[in-house]
Amino acid sequence: MNKDIERILVSEDKIEGIITELAEKIDRDYSGSEKKLLLLCILKGSVVFMGELMKKITIPVEIDFMKVSSYGSGTVSSGRLNILLDITRGDMADLDIIVIEDIIDSGRTLSYLVQYLQLKGAHSVRTCTMLDKPSRREVNFDPDYVGCTIPDEFVVGFGLDYDEKYRNLPYIGVLKPEVYNH
Ligand code: IMP
Ligand code: MG
Repeated sequence: MNKDIERILVSEDKIEGIITELAEKIDRDYSGSEKKLLLLCILKGSVVFMGELMKKITIPVEIDFMKVSSYGSGTVSSGRLNILLDITRGDMADLDIIVIEDIIDSGRTLSYLVQYLQLKGAHSVRTCTMLDKPSRREVNFDPDYVGCTIPDEFVVGFGLDYDEKYRNLPYIGVLKPEVYNH
């Protein structure tokens, strides 16, 4: 285990099982749709989750990326959301979008993005998150697909970072507090 990790919260095996189930649900829910299914990855944290999830979806699917910033380099939300990379497509009305997130904390990022994509004219917008910390909500928001609900702890790995590090860990772990308390 990485020396900065206090304990593993979601193991590689558990992650694999969670993603298999999510992909099966998405397959079932969208197999009858006449629209195009688009997985919209929110960079950078969701890139690992998205890559694993899309491999397990068997119905036709397209992918796209957005980048938003709501957080500084630390562990506390700055409360601001900027769109750094936008989705630019002419076929919004033909899209069933699933926004793919690594983790939901305050809920601000996804509640904003869902409204934004609806205003842009998407046929439908749902959300899928690997991790959810419901006890941290600052706005009323419920994701459609959730991998795993976790307590209020700062986690890294499987795409999630602290100061751009630890994204490459294959499991989700709790960071030792001394790593960010100095
Ligand atoms: P929200 O708008 O507060 O829901 O912010 C969600 C975003 O905060 C995620 O996409 C992450 O980038 C970041 N975040 C929240 N909690 C954690 C955590 O425990 N570890 C790493 N990033 C986190
Ligand atoms: Mg992040």
